[in-house]
Amino acid sequence: MTIASPPNSALISARNVSLSLGRAPSRVEILRGIDLSVAAGESVALLGPSGSGKSSLMAVLSGLEQPSGGTVEVAGLDFTALDEDALAVARRGRIGIVLQAFHLLPTMTALENVAVPLELAGERDAFARAATELAAVGLGHRTGHYPAQLSGGEQQRVAIARALVARPALIFADEPTGNLDTATGAAIMDLLFERHAASGTTLFVITHDPALAARCARVIDLADGRIVADRVSA
Ligand SMILES: Nc1ncnc2c1ncn2[C@@H]1O[C@H](COP(=O)(O)OP(=O)(O)OP(=O)(O)O)[C@@H](O)[C@H]1O
Ligand SMILES: [Mg+2]
Repeated sequence: MTIASPPNSALISARNVSLSLGRAPSRVEILRGIDLSVAAGESVALLGPSGSGKSSLMAVLSGLEQPSGGTVEVAGLDFTALDEDALAVARRGRIGIVLQAFHLLPTMTALENVAVPLELAGERDAFARAATELAAVGLGHRTGHYPAQLSGGEQQRVAIARALVARPALIFADEPTGNLDTATGAAIMDLLFERHAASGTTLFVITHDPALAARCARVIDLADGRIVADRVSA
């Protein structure tokens, strides 16, 4: 009799992940031999110099980019076996992503941008919930503004509201306080960690901000596309 192995309890599991981009002779090895497991409910800060591959690793772990080698499993789904449409469905409502370059839709107001994930999920009260989420990031007075009418920090907060609004179990955020002053950054951190504490939301945050890294329970250092340290936060 064979005994079934227990299900993989990791929420995120990356095995020997590599990523190379571009064509020879300018082909660049961006990620090399990444092995990483993140359990549900963890808070992880990813640190590393500019160009070390942080945003690329986040793209691969969140299914926005396919690795050149290795496997990525999230919530038991093999992301490397899914096509773009299936990945979009897998992310919907479960994974919130704040990209470094916000990627707001320019023809939509702040409110409409934040409502998008809820509308895709067919929620009836999308706009009311989007308004609540915008107020939570301090933008209750800017709901009708288009991205071009918002400051960089305001656009960043719209992107954060959009990532949080559907209450995903997993949030990826690329330098979420990078464009914010100290007080606004602290308020955004409070919001992320409130969700983490209240709902067990798993946080995976890229940051150069020591205050944000210190609030995460685990810190991973990336250098030249490799994990060089993986430690409990000091
Ligand atoms: N499409 C691409 N083609 C070739 N090289 C790329 C491409 N995208 C990124 N790179 C290179 O991959 C490396 C890692 O980029 P990445 O954006 O992941 O770095 P990062 O650690 O997030 O840096 P930063 O802190 O500046 O945001 C960089 O050297 C970058 O130039
Ligand atoms: Mg980056």
